[in-house]
Amino acid sequence: MSKLEGKVALITGAGSGIGRASAIHMAQAGAAVMCSDIDSQSAEGTVALISEAGGRADGMGLDVTSAQEMREAIKRTISNLGDINVLFNNAGVGGGFGWDQTIAVNLTGVFHGLSIGAPLLAERGGGVIINTASIAGMIALMTPPVDEDAETEADPDAEAGIGAYVAAKHGVVGLTKQFAVNYGGQGVRVNAIAPGFIVTPMTAEFRAEQAGEDFLIDLHPMGRLGQPEEIASVATFLASSDASFINGITLPVDGGYTAR
Ligand SMILES: NC(=O)c1ccc[n+]([C@@H]2O[C@H](COP(=O)([O-])OP(=O)(O)OC[C@H]3O[C@@H](n4cnc5c(N)ncnc54)[C@H](O)[C@@H]3O)[C@@H](O)[C@H]2O)c1
Repeated sequence: MSKLEGKVALITGAGSGIGRASAIHMAQAGAAVMCSDIDSQSAEGTVALISEAGGRADGMGLDVTSAQEMREAIKRTISNLGDINVLFNNAGVGGGFGWDQTIAVNLTGVFHGLSIGAPLLAERGGGVIINTASIAGMIALMTPPVDEDAETEADPDAEAGIGAYVAAKHGVVGLTKQFAVNYGGQGVRVNAIAPGFIVTPMTAEFRAEQAGEDFLIDLHPMGRLGQPEEIASVATFLASSDASFINGITLPVDGGYTAR
């Protein structure tokens, strides 16, 4: 039997990159998937890819910075797909959006999913929550200089953005532990994934120049960047009963980035 047969998953940020790959992977594993994204058209694009491949999915707009919208998304998942067993808090922005927006999406957005999703899953007999953290939730971030000046002069906006990203992702690791402890006894497992640099639109700016891409590749002992499908397969694993005794961890999926 497929790993997620009969399960229903709600994924945030499912219109692109890691979220889209995970929606497709979970659908291939047998789950019905609610693909949500602040960009509802991109979410619908993911639904189309799943449907064309014979999977079951629905799509909707969801801005994770709104607790109300998060509540609605969970309700709609249950009413349209019949249940909710897996919540993947994946939506995120790069630091380029500045302190407030980065914290709002990457930290408060995950908190909304956890604080609304965990008690509801517990009430319904259990489930799984997965959060997308980052290597930036475990250690400081190394990013390539995006222009020549950046090497010599500190750019305060860029620094605030990277600081917000690192602070938010460290916060996600902490929230993952706290909710795992609070809800583990009620049948809700809560874990996070910490990807290294992955080839998605989020990292396109860093990869635009060959020097930038080489800088990033050198940070990964495997000598390459990751693909979104390599995060998606881990999300499916954590969502499945193969991971039935895994709770409260942040799993690096980083080609060895955090090993040194
Ligand atoms: N790409 C990487 O190298 C990398 C590394 C570590 C962690 N991550 C994390 O992985 C997650 C997915 O990133 P990605 O690389 O797939 O990027 P991406 O830009 O391809 O996808 C992010 C998606 O989130 C959506 N989004 C943005 N703000 C939102 C909001 N307020 N509400 C709902 N959706 C919103 C975007 O529309 C987009 O579809 C993020 O949490 C990111 O921080 C990415």
